[in-house]
Amino acid sequence: MQGETETRKPCLVLGVTGGVAAYKSADLASCLTKAGIDVDVVMTESACEFVTPMTYQTVTGRTVYTSLWKSWQSKPDHIALADRPDLILIAPATANTLAKYARGIADNLLLTTLLATSKPVWVAPAMNPKMWAHPATCENMEILKERGVRVLGPAEGRVACGDTGVGRMVEPGELFDEVRAFLLD
Ligand SMILES: Cc1cc2nc3c(=O)[nH]c(=O)nc-3n(C[C@H](O)[C@H](O)[C@H](O)COP(=O)(O)O)c2cc1C
Repeated sequence: MQGETETRKPCLVLGVTGGVAAYKSADLASCLTKAGIDVDVVMTESACEFVTPMTYQTVTGRTVYTSLWKSWQSKPDHIALADRPDLILIAPATANTLAKYARGIADNLLLTTLLATSKPVWVAPAMNPKMWAHPATCENMEILKERGVRVLGPAEGRVACGDTGVGRMVEPGELFDEVRAFLLD
């Protein structure tokens, strides 16, 4: 209508990878949606072993992306998902996805989106403490930090397999506060 200015909602691409903490990110996606953020979820194949895309679709009310090869319209999904958001957050971020991201591997929709974006990228690693302490992971994290990727956590405590140490994903409430402050304040 004439005279009306259209206000665009802030947009987050939430990458979900294959760790047990994937269930926690459904709560995060729900809270961010309720806060007025458009949350476009991109799941890896392994993430779909832990939580169904339907869960994310239900809490966000939006299409959930799981494949490079499905659903795209005028632009390939990885280009649209790289251009559209104000922020990309990967939570949980597995050792595998962090390693591939650090090395520029683009063999799924999430990794291809990451390679195609110039938007800020945050990662919330979650893994067994030995995986987090492995020299390969340490080197990959240094590469990512040097490129400007913001690393949230991981926290110390008990991880799903029963080990204790640094490797737990930062709690969804804390991730929510960080994203909300960045996108809405
Ligand atoms: C039960 C189970 C739990 C897992 N949890 C984690 C985890 O918390 N963090 C992690 O880095 N890998 C975890 N893995 C291994 C990843 O799922 C595996 O490396 C996978 O290739 C990751 O793929 P993605 O990075 O494409 O999602 C787990 C595997 C299984 C079977």
